[in-house]
Amino acid sequence: MCGIVGYVSSNTDAKEILLDSLKRLEYRGYDSAGVALIDGEGRLQVFKKAGSIDSLKETLPEIKAGTGISHTRWATHGVPSDLNAHPHVDCTGKLALVHNGIVENYRALREELEGKGHSFSSKTDSEVIAHLIEEMYSGDLLEAVKGALKRLKGSFAILVLHSDHPGEMVAARQESPLVLGKRFGKIFAASDPTALLAYTEEFIFMDDGQIAHLKGGNITLYDFDLKEVKPNWQRITWSVKDAEKGGFEHFMLKEIYEQPSTIHQCLQGWDEEDLSWLRPRSLTSVNIVACGTSYHAALVGKYVIQAFSGLPTQVETASEYRYSPPTDYSSLHIFISQSGETADTLAALREARKRGNETLAITNVMGSTITREAHHTIYLRAGPEIGVAATKTFTSQIIILYLLALWMGVRRGRILSEEAGRVLSELKKMPRVVERILSREEEVKAIAEGLKGAPSMFYIGRYVNYPSALEGALKMKEISYIHAEGYPAGELKHGPLALLDENLPVVAILTSDHTYEKMLSNVGEVVARNAPVVAITEEGDDEVLKYTEDVLYYPPVMPILSPVPIAIYTQLLAYWTAKFRGCPIDKPRNLAKSVTVE
Ligand code: M6R
Repeated sequence: MCGIVGYVSSNTDAKEILLDSLKRLEYRGYDSAGVALIDGEGRLQVFKKAGSIDSLKETLPEIKAGTGISHTRWATHGVPSDLNAHPHVDCTGKLALVHNGIVENYRALREELEGKGHSFSSKTDSEVIAHLIEEMYSGDLLEAVKGALKRLKGSFAILVLHSDHPGEMVAARQESPLVLGKRFGKIFAASDPTALLAYTEEFIFMDDGQIAHLKGGNITLYDFDLKEVKPNWQRITWSVKDAEKGGFEHFMLKEIYEQPSTIHQCLQGWDEEDLSWLRPRSLTSVNIVACGTSYHAALVGKYVIQAFSGLPTQVETASEYRYSPPTDYSSLHIFISQSGETADTLAALREARKRGNETLAITNVMGSTITREAHHTIYLRAGPEIGVAATKTFTSQIIILYLLALWMGVRRGRILSEEAGRVLSELKKMPRVVERILSREEEVKAIAEGLKGAPSMFYIGRYVNYPSALEGALKMKEISYIHAEGYPAGELKHGPLALLDENLPVVAILTSDHTYEKMLSNVGEVVARNAPVVAITEEGDDEVLKYTEDVLYYPPVMPILSPVPIAIYTQLLAYWTAKFRGCPIDKPRNLAKSVTVE
């Protein structure tokens, strides 16, 4: 995990630029932060601290520097502390390094380096890289980094400074994201382009196995043997405003409110040409692999793909994928990841490719690792998502899965194009449907106030809304810290019912389809145990009022599309419950936006 930023210029604004950009990466980790600068006299100055970037900022002196690196941490090795915070320095105090990733062989390297007299000040895996480069250094920083990289096992994006080389930086990437940018002779490096949107639109997304030398306003790209590589510049058109809060108290709320437009953008961006490689009639099945919220979107996709295309569909949690047997080659493998950087999903993708499967990535982030490793990519076009809790990207993921399922269904002769057209025009109404739900935020707030003291909660649903129950519960536990579990409603009587009493609220998700009667009976079972029920159901459902007064109504939609409006309610419910509990909504404890460790 972690976010890193680097800056090389002939100006004196490195401190400000590094901290400003780092702040935009805070979603990648926020347990400690640090900055290293080469000051006007060519001295390396390092400041680091456990805690937030803001608290680091308060302790920094006035300092004029043109070159520097910065880091925001999510601890993997070594507790969050001042000493374990990055940047790490070598024994001479002249070299500083920031690292995102994990050095798998750090114990052996540390022992070897300590044997050679190196003295370590942290418990991190990252510090070994600084000492390893020091060990290889004899005046040429680029050569020293090259030598050190040959000894590392694991994943890394690193930025290295040396006070013998003011105005220079070396960057390298292996399995952890790193982008470079350039504007008016200033050079930037960061884990993610959103950090740099205020400064540049032109980016190089470094590939695995590349080193970059940033010097004199230029970027030279090499492979790990220092053979020069031609850079591939790409333009990112997201605006800085897209990555800011725009008047909302939290990114999460802003992102919830963006959904009418992100759903619209997603539908607009759908281009059948992107699927010209896919032969739906030759497929025998579909496998979808993902983690967290993306996994829940995949589960919705399973029902939808089966319903529209008739293709048997399996969904696997990415971290479990490698333990399942290979499927035949005519199974389409879909990997869903908002960030495109989730280590578990990338590992599963690599495994699928090794097994010979054709792979399709569904992601939000252009240039992310998944887009370079999968055979094909479909983008969500949802704009940057900063809140740790995924919201707008979940609805975009399921919209893409509806579109894909319809497209395959028509080509497989499973549904007529008129029927697909009808579903599509219902999908096009979703931005309006979502707007109507957003206009009922006050009702959600009132219910959330009643939930704020709950020690635990259940979410129940059936069929296409079983995943909605899982996702609702994930949102609730992740940001409000209330223990919440999602269940297929029929499962309650097989155990969980034992836990129900007047202190355990149950969110019941109802749809006006073949599941309705059974869901209503399940609600009855819950009420009979005195558990309070919050029902989310379609407008016009009066039956449910016999069981509870806490009802959130969504406008009539095709039942199979109901996970879209329901997601908006469960997101708002989690948001307002967390807000009433005073939780740090955008940055829940122990979590990070991009989970780049397995
Ligand atoms: O970037 P990804 O979609 O691959 O991320 C997967 C999960 O880490 C992510 O969905 C996580 O569960 C979210 N915090 C949920 O809100």
